[in-house]
Amino acid sequence: MTLTAYNHVSIPSFMYGTAWKKAATAQLVQLAVATGFRAIDTANQLIHYEEGLVGDALRVMEQRGIKRSTLFLQTKFTSADGQDHRTPYDPTADLTTQVRQSFDSSLTHLRTDYVDSYVLHAPFQRRGLGGADWEVWAAMEDLYGAGKSKMIGVSNITAAQLTLLCDQAKVKPMVVQNRCFAALGWDKEIRDICQAHGIIYQGFSLLTANREVLSDPEIRIIAARLGATPAQIIFRFAMQVGMLPLTGTTSQKHMEEDLQVEQFTLSAQELERIETIAV
Ligand SMILES: NC(=O)c1ccc[n+]([C@@H]2O[C@H](COP(=O)([O-])OP(=O)(O)OC[C@H]3O[C@@H](n4cnc5c(N)ncnc54)[C@H](OP(=O)(O)O)[C@@H]3O)[C@@H](O)[C@H]2O)c1
Repeated sequence: MTLTAYNHVSIPSFMYGTAWKKAATAQLVQLAVATGFRAIDTANQLIHYEEGLVGDALRVMEQRGIKRSTLFLQTKFTSADGQDHRTPYDPTADLTTQVRQSFDSSLTHLRTDYVDSYVLHAPFQRRGLGGADWEVWAAMEDLYGAGKSKMIGVSNITAAQLTLLCDQAKVKPMVVQNRCFAALGWDKEIRDICQAHGIIYQGFSLLTANREVLSDPEIRIIAARLGATPAQIIFRFAMQVGMLPLTGTTSQKHMEEDLQVEQFTLSAQELERIETIAV
């Protein structure tokens, strides 16, 4: 299964996230691909990600016959505020230069000449969009225009910011990546904006931000009906309501279980119940 954005580019329906994997990153990326994942998420931000080790995994897999073109690679531009002293660009340069340098460094890390999706890790401000956001977005639009990234997107964004971006950008985002809280109706407001614009909504922390849902008796009953785990129910729910879930599991068993969720279907009543289970 794939999800397709308004620009007709598609993403495999479940994405493997590489945050916090540290030295195990290369081995886990290889395991994820061997298990069946074809979309990989990383960032050029050494505090949380080892993008270079994702690249090491890609080199090993290429040698084993897994072509880069069969994988969907997504990485991010992280502003200097979200970096430590190992900023992968000159933090004193103007923002357009920072984006270009960070992007070029990502290509070097990932041993590729294009990425499938390039994401702004977070707007610079909590409310509205400022000059810095527009400058970075314009630099990302240029990368998209030059064919260096097949999609561009934004993460950790509010509904008001996304509306502004969709209304005023030359190129609307094709991807939004947000932490998905059940208590916010699973980010319903933003998902609705994404749906209206043909933007792919990627949900992260579906399990870790919603631990109470995993132990909810109603979820357990649905899981028992389908012979599935509560985690599988959450991921399947996410897919059936149109999201593209991320998983950051380190376990092969969980990788397999995550990919198996497309083999069962939640009923309309079950979807409706889970939509508002924590609201
Ligand atoms: N844009 C951003 O700001 C941002 C922020 C955070 C994350 N992300 C992205 O999202 C990715 C995923 O992050 P996340 O917070 O959703 O996941 P995560 O932090 O890796 O958490 C998944 C946790 O759930 C556990 N788990 C239990 N059953 C599982 C199952 N069936 N499948 C998967 N996990 C299971 C995992 O344990 P086991 O390891 O034992 O399975 C792990 O502890 C990250 O790697 C990163 O790529 C982006």
